[in-house]
Amino acid sequence: MATDPHALFEDWLAEARTSEPNDPTAMALATADAQGRPSVRMVLLKGHDARGFVFYSNLDSRKGGELAANPNAALLFHWKSLRRQVRVEGPVEPVSDVEADAYFASRARESQLGAWASDQSRPLDRREIFEARYAEMAARFDGGEVPRPPRWSGWRVMPERIEFWSDRAFRLHERRLFTRAGEGWSEGLLYP
Ligand SMILES: Cc1cc2nc3c(=O)[nH]c(=O)nc-3n(C[C@H](O)[C@H](O)[C@H](O)COP(=O)(O)O)c2cc1C
Repeated sequence: MATDPHALFEDWLAEARTSEPNDPTAMALATADAQGRPSVRMVLLKGHDARGFVFYSNLDSRKGGELAANPNAALLFHWKSLRRQVRVEGPVEPVSDVEADAYFASRARESQLGAWASDQSRPLDRREIFEARYAEMAARFDGGEVPRPPRWSGWRVMPERIEFWSDRAFRLHERRLFTRAGEGWSEGLLYP
C-alpha cells in the first residue's frame, strides 16, 4: 500500500514534539505578490489533516494581502534536532468562520487582546502606541469574552506536493517526494 504523506507528516511531527527545544510546529510560510515577488516569514501550524495545513493571522497583514492577490503558498518545517525538513506546496483557501472562531476561542486572553490591538505589518511609530492600544482593548472587553476580530482568520494550504528530506552522512540525503494524483498520491525519490 502506498504511504500516506499526511500520516508520515504526523509521525515526523510527533518525533519533533519530543526532540525540539521549542516550537515544533513552527514553519516558514512563503507567499508571493501578484508580480511573483516572494516573501517569507515564520508562522505556527494550528491544524493538520488530509485537507491540508492551517495557520492563522491578520487578513490585512502583508501575507494576507499577498494571499488575496495570489492564493498559493509554500511551507517549510526544519527540525534541527532531527536533521529533517518537510516542504509543502499548494493553493490556499480561507478556513471557515466556525473553524477560525473555535481556534481563536482557544487562545490565551492576552493573545486575543493582542490580535485586536495589532495593526499587523503596518508601520508603528513607537512601542508605547501599541501598548496603549492593547490597554484600550483590555478595557473594552473587560471581564467579557473576546470575540474574534473581523480581520483575523486562517488559511489552509492544500498540498499538491510534499517532500520529506532526511539528513544522511556525507550529504547523501534522502528525499521522498509525494505529488497529488487524483484523490491519492504518487511517491518517488529525488537526488539529494
Ligand atoms: C516561531 C514564530 C511563530 C510565529 N507564528 C505566527 C503565526 O502563527 N501567525 C502570525 O500571524 N505571525 C506569526 N509569527 C510572526 C510572523 O513571522 C510575522 O512577523 C507576522 O505574521 C507578520 O508577517 P507579514 O508582515 O509577512 O504578514 C511568528 C513568528 C515566529 C518567529
